[in-house]
Amino acid sequence: MVDTGRMQKTRVKVFYYSKSGNTKKVAEAIAAEMKTDAINVASHGGNYEMTDCDLLFVGSGVYWFRAGNEMVKFLETLAPSVGKNAVVFGTHGSRDDHIAQMKKILEGKGLKVIGEWSCPGQEYAMVNRGRPNEEDLKEAKEFARRMLWKVEVI
Ligand SMILES: Cc1cc2nc3c(=O)[nH]c(=O)nc-3n(C[C@H](O)[C@H](O)[C@H](O)COP(=O)(O)O)c2cc1C
Repeated sequence: MVDTGRMQKTRVKVFYYSKSGNTKKVAEAIAAEMKTDAINVASHGGNYEMTDCDLLFVGSGVYWFRAGNEMVKFLETLAPSVGKNAVVFGTHGSRDDHIAQMKKILEGKGLKVIGEWSCPGQEYAMVNRGRPNEEDLKEAKEFARRMLWKVEVI
């Protein structure tokens, strides 16, 4: 069950980068659970509204061991005052190296990374076929709810 009372108090934002749509699915599942929109950092030429929030979710696929360039740019230009708590998520072929990379940038800005989550994402036709699947998306939603509970709003 979603605690709507808590969600009304907690300002949540979800930003993602996704080349082939896998991370977009996860971002949209998390955003739906948090009753907000999933915002693609590559859309609108990078001109998205960025206001302060209590819980910032950021997600990406991994491309040659790194998060998408647009996501890296987004994180690097983020105002440190944007919020206190961040959560890193993503999809990967076999190794989630981008999670530590995104976490490091956020922590360098002074944000506290309270959780990390990544699941396999389909690559070409056969690798991780069908992932993220319904089970993955359910897990992502449960993870997001746990993160919401971790945030203390004064
Ligand atoms: C150009 C390219 C490079 C990739 N490099 C990696 C990698 O270094 N490690 C890995 O685990 N997966 C790698 N993958 C797999 C993707 O991270 C995986 O399919 C992911 O779900 C893609 O997310 P997206 O659909 O949101 O773009 C790569 C995929 C592509 C297309």
